[in-house]
Amino acid sequence: INKIGVLTSGGDAPGMNAAIRAVVRSCAYQEIACSGIYRGYQGLIENDIEDLDARSVRNIISRGGTFLKSARSREFQTKEGRQKAFTNLKNAGIDALIVIGGDGTFTGGLIFEKEFDFPVIGIPATIDNDINGTDFTIGYDTALNTVVDAIDKIRDTASSHNRLFLVEVMGRDAGAIALNSGIGAGAEEILIPEENNGIERLMESLKQSKKSGKTSSIIVVAEGDKSGKNIFELAEFIGESLEGYDIRVSVLGHIQRGGSPSCYDRVLASKLGVGAVDAILEGKRNIMIGINNQKVTSVPLETGIKGEHKIDKDLRRVASITSI
Ligand code: F6P
Repeated sequence: INKIGVLTSGGDAPGMNAAIRAVVRSCAYQEIACSGIYRGYQGLIENDIEDLDARSVRNIISRGGTFLKSARSREFQTKEGRQKAFTNLKNAGIDALIVIGGDGTFTGGLIFEKEFDFPVIGIPATIDNDINGTDFTIGYDTALNTVVDAIDKIRDTASSHNRLFLVEVMGRDAGAIALNSGIGAGAEEILIPEENNGIERLMESLKQSKKSGKTSSIIVVAEGDKSGKNIFELAEFIGESLEGYDIRVSVLGHIQRGGSPSCYDRVLASKLGVGAVDAILEGKRNIMIGINNQKVTSVPLETGIKGEHKIDKDLRRVASITSI
């Protein structure tokens, strides 16, 4: 191996910069050249590639987003697009690729690796924490802290006005952010994509809350919630069905994806970045580097993609008990 390429793809996540930095510096340490590919697979197709050295990644560990930028490339889903990408990699002298992102990123990487017999290593980075084969993804811890901080602030105003707030958090398919931030911020109810317990149960629970003396409430709703209503319809429905509620909706949106990464995410990203370069030098390919029981591990890239989004039943129980 003479040169490693690194790119970030899909939705950005805080800590991606720390992961790039670790890859670049690990290459420098191992005396291998390193190229940064801008705008994910799209930049690879358009030959937007630049050589990076240890100093190119100075002062980025604390920055959110990704300085290599990110994209979701439609062209990479075509054979022609991938052929262009392969030609550009060859011309740049790159002989292994590290892709930092989520399941879409790994799906592209896997197809590419099979088609051109080109080593691809994945590093899981997404705020959703929905990748199989790793306990945590880069960006999740920071996003959780951002969400809890925001809900704490919403609670202040909710309690001043005796209001019910519905707070929408990210998670198109995964409820990890909603469930954990909901517990962390003391939400009364948490609605997640992995389960649909019905609106009746929600109404019953709100009635009980009122009876038990609660004057304000927070309901955390993951954006992919399966109640069949969007958050504004849900608010309207509650308002029409139950008496005496002053209801507000707050959609947290993309603030959840930004911001300076937490120390946990910086350390995780550093470990996984170094682990990815080590794996390439050990001759591994077609794998995802992950963290399991605090140890850097590797699983086949397929494992990362085909993950089922299971919810932690114990956590659900903790949420029910602590919101009583
Ligand atoms: O995959 C991360 C994620 O934040 C999802 O939770 C969310 O649904 C999605 O990205 C939104 O992505 P974008 O706004 O970039 O299309």
